[in-house]
Amino acid sequence: MGKESLKVLGLAGEYRATSKSGLLVNAALDMASEHGADVVFWDLSEQPLPLVGEEGCWTHPNVQAFQALLLECDAFFLSSPEYHGTMSGVMKNTMDWMYDKHVGGKVFGLMSTLGGVTNSNTLNHMRIALRWLHGWPVPEQLAVGHVKEAFDDNGQLVDVALQGRLQSVVTSVLNAAVKLRA
Ligand SMILES: Cc1cc2nc3c(=O)[nH]c(=O)nc-3n(C[C@H](O)[C@H](O)[C@H](O)COP(=O)(O)O)c2cc1C
Repeated sequence: MGKESLKVLGLAGEYRATSKSGLLVNAALDMASEHGADVVFWDLSEQPLPLVGEEGCWTHPNVQAFQALLLECDAFFLSSPEYHGTMSGVMKNTMDWMYDKHVGGKVFGLMSTLGGVTNSNTLNHMRIALRWLHGWPVPEQLAVGHVKEAFDDNGQLVDVALQGRLQSVVTSVLNAAVKLRA
């Protein structure tokens, strides 16, 4: 992986690490850690980000800590639940606290969870938003439909094929991050 470990940040478009998006992004972080990456999960239930525009948001200490962490990181895993055919408001608000100066030229791995049938809407919408941040989402991506049944009691994906797809996302992100950092 190169001399210095990659630093990878996981973000979920939900408030709890135990949400399905939280489980999915943490499964990705665990895989990245096994490949030697230095990983961190931003838990919004512990450090919520204010809504962009609300009173006091521009100097909020959580925003300052979040943006400082973005600068330190080489790559990002994003997992959003699909709400009404697109990313959750929580994920969009999280992305609204990112700017080109924090994440431009850095690599992203995208995931989404759905209560219903698997589709790529949320993944496509996150991909479009990342264009405005000059982010580099890898082509590999993962949407997990019927997500209520998708995880076992240990927070692992039950379906071996989905585990393989997640591994492909993680490997692609790490490989691309090494190249772009160089
Ligand atoms: C407001 C709302 C809208 C939703 N819209 C959709 C939808 O459009 N398609 C779908 O498959 N599931 C939809 N769901 C189900 C969520 O995608 C599902 O509960 C979520 O992926 C679970 O992940 P989480 O635990 O991270 O929230 C919706 C849920 C909520 C609360």
